[in-house]
Amino acid sequence: MSEKIFVTKSYLPPQEEYIAYLNGIWERYHLTNQGPLVLELEQKLRQYLGLEHLHFSSNGTIVLQMALKALRITGEVITTPFSYCATSHAIAWENATPIFADIRKEDLCIDPDCIEALITPKTQAILATHVYGIPCQIERIEAIAKQHGLYVIYDAAHTFGVQYKGKSLLSYGDVSTCSFTRRKYSIRWKVA
Ligand SMILES: Cc1ncc(COP(=O)(O)O)c(C=O)c1O
Repeated sequence: MSEKIFVTKSYLPPQEEYIAYLNGIWERYHLTNQGPLVLELEQKLRQYLGLEHLHFSSNGTIVLQMALKALRITGEVITTPFSYCATSHAIAWENATPIFADIRKEDLCIDPDCIEALITPKTQAILATHVYGIPCQIERIEAIAKQHGLYVIYDAAHTFGVQYKGKSLLSYGDVSTCSFTRRKYSIRWKVA
């Protein structure tokens, strides 16, 4: 008889391990602002991903907004129409303007050939999604950005654990953002 695999079932740790963490929280009463568990998680993620700079926040939408805000982006952002809605919503919520470039049929990621024609004096950044964890055309996007003085932000929500050319895909761009929504964090593969 074949075994059923429930592919959308979330992974949960053993309950007693989780409760031990909760007991620590009740002992410390440190609920917000750089609590020890968040700092430990950031440190372990930095180590696991080989990243020097990593900041943990509550979800993959707010970190897109934080990236845009940190880079002071208020003008036009060339982005992809084929992503989760948070990618373009984050741009709009930061009062910047999403400009949609077409995608490649090979991997559904933004097509660098379509980016250049959309650049105007108001363009400040390219926000590209590594769709389903498949890396965008990184070298071409970075060359265009360099030539036109644009920031590159990668919505890397689907890419936790993906390696590209020997390092974490999250290490590319001026900022890469990630999400731990339950369907995302199991992706782990290497792209040579
Ligand atoms: C490409 C992409 N960007 C951003 C997000 C937003 O992440 P979160 O659900 O953690 O806010 C998602 C989540 O589905 C996503 O797929």
